[in-house]
Amino acid sequence: MPHNFSAISGNAPTFTEPLPVGQLYFPDWSRYEAAMRGIWERRYYTNHGPLAQELEASLAHFLNVKHVVCVANATIGLMMAAEALVLKGKVIVPSHTFIATAQSLKWCGLQPVFCDVEPSDHQIDPQQVVGLIDEDVSAILAVNLWGGACDVASLDVLAREYDLALYFDSAQAFGCAIDGVPLASFGQAEVFSFHATKVLSAAEGGCVTTNDDDVAARLRNIRSSYGAGRPTQVVKTSNGRISEAQAAIALMSLDDYPSIQAKNKALFDVYRSNLAGIPGLRILDPANVTSSNYQYAVCELDEDAFGLSRDQLLRLLQAENVIARRYFYPGTHRCKGFDDNADADAARLPVTERLCQVGFQLPLGSRLFAESALKISTLIKCAHEQASALRPLIAREY
Ligand SMILES: Cc1ncc(COP(=O)(O)O)c(C=O)c1O
Repeated sequence: MPHNFSAISGNAPTFTEPLPVGQLYFPDWSRYEAAMRGIWERRYYTNHGPLAQELEASLAHFLNVKHVVCVANATIGLMMAAEALVLKGKVIVPSHTFIATAQSLKWCGLQPVFCDVEPSDHQIDPQQVVGLIDEDVSAILAVNLWGGACDVASLDVLAREYDLALYFDSAQAFGCAIDGVPLASFGQAEVFSFHATKVLSAAEGGCVTTNDDDVAARLRNIRSSYGAGRPTQVVKTSNGRISEAQAAIALMSLDDYPSIQAKNKALFDVYRSNLAGIPGLRILDPANVTSSNYQYAVCELDEDAFGLSRDQLLRLLQAENVIARRYFYPGTHRCKGFDDNADADAARLPVTERLCQVGFQLPLGSRLFAESALKISTLIKCAHEQASALRPLIAREY
C-alpha cells in the first residue's frame, strides 16, 4: 500500500475535518452579537438602512470609486448592470467563468457570445474578442478571475474603437488593483460578490461600482423598485437590496480585510513554494495586478507528466478531507441553456475545453492554516511519486 494516503485503505483521513475551497469569514461571536444587537435596538432590518449606507460609503472610499450600489448578491448585480447599461442583442463573455456570468445575460434577454481565455492566466483573450464583434454585439462582459485581472487596457481600447459597453464581473477580485488603481472604476461598471466564499463576505451580498452618475441612478432605481436615489425611468425593477444583517457582516469583513489578505497570501506562498517543481503541476499567480486578495489557489494538472489525472488526484485528496474542486466544470458553453452550439463553440474555445479537464482549486481560507497547506502540498507531491501504485486504486472520473 502506498504511503501517506490512509483513507484509500479504509483508515481515518489525514484531516479530521473537511477543508473546503472558499474563504468562509466568521467574525468573533462578540462582534457579531453586538452588530446584531444594534439592528435589534434600531428596529431596522432593511431598505437602505444605516449599516447599508455606511457600507456603501466605506466601500466607495476603500475602492476609490464614486458610486457603490450594494446588492443582495453578485448575480442580481450583474443582471442590474446589464439593464442599467441598456444593452441589446449580443454580449461577448468568456465561457470559462462561473455560470452566473452568462446567466445574468439570459435573464436580461441578451445572447452570450462565448470567447476563449488565455492559456497563461485563464483571463479573457482580447484577440479573440475582436473576431467576435459584429453589428449585433452591444457589450463586452469581461471577468476578472482568480484574484487577478484580465487585460483591461486592451479591452478598453477595443470597446472605444467599436463603440461597445464594457463592464466587468469582478466577483472574485475584491481588493485587487492594477498599477495601484483598485478594481471598481474600470469600464462602465464592475460587479463584486460578497458571497461567503469570497474575500469580502456579507454571507450573501455584492455591489455594483461605477463612476457614471446616470448608470448609478438607474442601478439604484432598478435595485429598489424606484425606492432609492434620484428618480430615473427604467424599464425593469427588482429587489436587489442588501439587508442590515448582511451589511453588518460586510463591514466587519472590510475592517478585517488587511489581515485576511495577508493570511491568504501566506497560505498561497506555502503552496507556491512547496508545489514548485512537481512535474505536471502548475499553480497560477494572480494575473495583471499589483495587489491581489489571494483568495484562490488555482492549479492545472498535466496527467502525462504527473502520473494521475486531475480527477484521480481530486478523488485522492477528497478522501483525505481535502475538498479540492474542479473549476469551472463544465464550461458554460456546455451547460444546459447555453449548449445549442456546443460543438461549434468548443472548436473556438480550445483553452476553455482544456481547462475543464485540467483545472482545479485547492482549499484556502479561514479554515486553513500554514501546516495544513504544507501537508496538502506533501500529499500532492507523494501522489506524483507514488502515481503508478495509486493509479489502479482510483477511479478515473467522478
Ligand atoms: C466569476 C463569478 N461571477 C459571479 C458569481 C456570483 O456571485 P454571487 O454568488 O454573489 O451571486 C461568482 C460567485 O461565485 C463568481 O465567482
